[in-house]
Amino acid sequence: MANLDVTVRHSGINFPGHLHTLKSLESAQTFKFHDTDTLIVTYPKSGTTWMQEILTIIYNDGNPQLANTTPNWLRSPWIEHYYCEDVVMNMLHQRTLTTHLPYHFLAKSLKQSNAKVIYVARNPKDIIVSFYHFHKMANFLPEPGTFGEFLEKFVTGEVNYGSWFDHIKEWINHRDEHNFLFITYEELIKDLRKSVIKLCNFVEHPLSPEAIDTIVRHCTFANMKENKMINYTLVPNEIMDQQRGKFMRKGVAGDWKEHFTEEQKQAFEKIYQEKLSDSNIVLAWTL
Ligand code: A3P
Repeated sequence: MANLDVTVRHSGINFPGHLHTLKSLESAQTFKFHDTDTLIVTYPKSGTTWMQEILTIIYNDGNPQLANTTPNWLRSPWIEHYYCEDVVMNMLHQRTLTTHLPYHFLAKSLKQSNAKVIYVARNPKDIIVSFYHFHKMANFLPEPGTFGEFLEKFVTGEVNYGSWFDHIKEWINHRDEHNFLFITYEELIKDLRKSVIKLCNFVEHPLSPEAIDTIVRHCTFANMKENKMINYTLVPNEIMDQQRGKFMRKGVAGDWKEHFTEEQKQAFEKIYQEKLSDSNIVLAWTL
C-alpha cells in the first residue's frame, strides 16, 4: 500500500505516511547505533542523496559497483522509514544510515554509541526551491500551492519534516556531544575533491588519489542524474511523477535567485536573522 494520502503526526511534526508509521518513528528513537555506524543527517533537499553516494563509494574503496547496482535506500536506509528494520538486518559490519529526524528524536540512542554523524546543511533558500519542486512531483507530499504559499508554510514549520530552523539549530547545538562533522552542500559544489578528502579523513577511511578521482567523477550531478540507483526512476510514477519534475533537478547553488521576489528575499532574511541569532551557527553561505 502506497499510503500516498496519509500523514503521520509525531511530536507536533508531520511525516509522509508513505514512508513513516508511528511505530517506525518510535523505533527510530530507540535505534541501536554501533560505534562503526555513520549517520547522515539532513533536512530534506540538503544533499542527502549526494552524501549517500559519496559515502557508498568511499566505503567501497573507490569501487562504484555497489552504487551502480543497489538503490540508495537499501545501502543507506533512513532509520525512521518503515522498511528500515528489514534492510538493517542484512547490513554488514559498516553501516551507513540516514535520517531527516530532529536531534531530540535520536539524542538518547545516539549518546549510547560513538557513531559518526555527518550533518549536511544547505542554503535554506535553495532548500525551499528544491522542496517546492519536489512537492510537485512526489505524490506522497501535499500539493505545495504557489511558491509564495509554500514559502510561508516553510517559514512557519508547517511543512512535512517540521521546521528547518529548529532542525539545524538543534543538531548544531549538540555537535560537541558527538563524533560530528558539519559540511555544506555549497562546499561540495565548490570543491568536490577537497570535500571527499575531508570525508575520508572524518570516517577514517583513507583512499588513494586514484580512488578519490573515481569518486569525484562518479558523483558529478551529470553522472548521478543518469544513475537509476540514485535518481529515483525505479520508483513508480504513481509515487514520484518524473513527468512533473526530476528528482535530480538542477544541482546548483543559488537557484533561489530565480524564484524569490525581492520582497520575499528580504522577509526571509529578516526571519532567518531573528530565528538563528541566538545560536552559534556560522553558516558558510552568504544569504
Ligand atoms: P535541486 O532540486 O536544487 O536540484 P536530497 O537528496 O537531500 O533530497 O537533495 C536533493 C537535491 O540535491 C536536489 O537539488 C538535487 O538535484 C541535488 N543533488 C543531488 N545530487 C547532486 C550532485 N551530484 N550535485 C549537485 N546537486 C545534487
